[in-house]
Amino acid sequence: MFSLPIVAAHPDAIPLTLVTKAGLDAWSNDQADALRAWIGATGFLGGSGETCLIASADGTLARVLVGLGDGLDHWVCGRLACGLPEGTYWLDEMVGLEKSAENQAATWLVLSWCLGAYRFDRYKTATSDAPAILVWPDDVDRAYVEGAAYAALLTRDLINTPAEDMGPDALALAAETLAVAHGADFKAIVGDELLSENFPAIHAVGRAASKAPRLIDLVWGDADAPKVTLVGKGVCFDSGGLDIKSSSGMRFMKKDMGGSATVLGLADWIMRAGLPVRLRVLVPAVENAIAGNAFRPGDVVATRKGPTIEVGNTDAEGRVVLSDALALACEESPDLVIDCATLTGAARVALGPELPALFSPDDGLAEDILEAGLMNNDPMWRLPLWAGYQRLIASKIADVSNSGESGLAGAITAALFLKTFVDDGIPWVHLDLFGWNPDDKPGRPVGGEAYAQRALFEVIRKRFA
Ligand code: BES
Ligand code: MN
Ligand code: ZN
Repeated sequence: MFSLPIVAAHPDAIPLTLVTKAGLDAWSNDQADALRAWIGATGFLGGSGETCLIASADGTLARVLVGLGDGLDHWVCGRLACGLPEGTYWLDEMVGLEKSAENQAATWLVLSWCLGAYRFDRYKTATSDAPAILVWPDDVDRAYVEGAAYAALLTRDLINTPAEDMGPDALALAAETLAVAHGADFKAIVGDELLSENFPAIHAVGRAASKAPRLIDLVWGDADAPKVTLVGKGVCFDSGGLDIKSSSGMRFMKKDMGGSATVLGLADWIMRAGLPVRLRVLVPAVENAIAGNAFRPGDVVATRKGPTIEVGNTDAEGRVVLSDALALACEESPDLVIDCATLTGAARVALGPELPALFSPDDGLAEDILEAGLMNNDPMWRLPLWAGYQRLIASKIADVSNSGESGLAGAITAALFLKTFVDDGIPWVHLDLFGWNPDDKPGRPVGGEAYAQRALFEVIRKRFA
């Protein structure tokens, strides 16, 4: 699978000095005149992520200075793995940080290094340069770094893989592989079996695709432990269906299984960490395709839970498949249900790509997740399940419509729609996320991205410790 660009030890690793802007002068003043002059000549000021290569007398790389800026940005090392000369490095010193901030800074140094080393080169014929390697510093939370990094890398790979190679079948295989790796139970209900097993909504959306729709069901952990169920939207490609998307709207819709990729990565982390929970992952995996047997605008779709859905728009397919998965999730009254979905364009209009929209009827749960997000560089923003907008998804002929006529409050009406299929009283949170980095940021290269994962892990860990 993945290997992280980290090693336990290396005899001639190159030392790194991490230094804040404020700490640079004092550090420089302790150095030889020539070195102090060199730092001045390069213009290095210790700005966030800035680097300064220092040569030894024999012309080899003796040390690298890395700017910590004002010391608050945890992503400062996010460009080092791909930016530094090939080789192995070790964290020699941190200058200018409070002692109490150093451990967390070191943990983030390693995590951002790993996340920034990621490249999706499955389809490149030429192999890319090896990333720079880091020696594990002392006092970092290795389990956290490894858990978070492997989870995010899995999520990114699943999202980045084109729909041709990440259809409902391949997504199920990825889940099964994960289950095998951790000794979890895996099953999938495939194709017409969805009808006999009473998942009519998943079948309706996925039936037009040449790869059969399916419901992925992974179960892990002690049967008596608190039940945590993760549900992820697994639309492997969203053409929009008969309400077909525009070219630009369709261009990146291989990422419409981003919610499922996020929960599978999170599941990997939970199982790797051995959290004391009974974990379940449910993924309705479909392709929203166009064919003679596609579901149509105006159709009425039956659901597992019962409420009928009028299809106002075949492009609002995610909430339709999630309705059956959420209904199944609730049948065993779990202690926590979390769904992640690339559900609406409206959430993106409201909050942009960096902030998943969080919805929950449970204020305490919502607060916990937002707080964990802030603590783990994984921010989110809460939007309301505003009951007043329920009327926007009323249907004249069925119990609910899958699309508001007006398009107003699109992320909220989508969340309200999902709420129809979640039993009252079950702690539930819905995350409408983007699944994609549209621009290159330290530690977060362009492409598939695992939003909300670190926050959710922390909340689950704390709740059920
Ligand atoms: N997968 C899309 C939402 C989406 C689009 C997420 C772009 C991220 C980026 C979803 O299936 C969709 O098409 N939603 C429609 C719903 C509408 C037809 C009610 C939307 O948001 O426009
Ligand atoms: Mn859609
Ligand atoms: Zn979609």
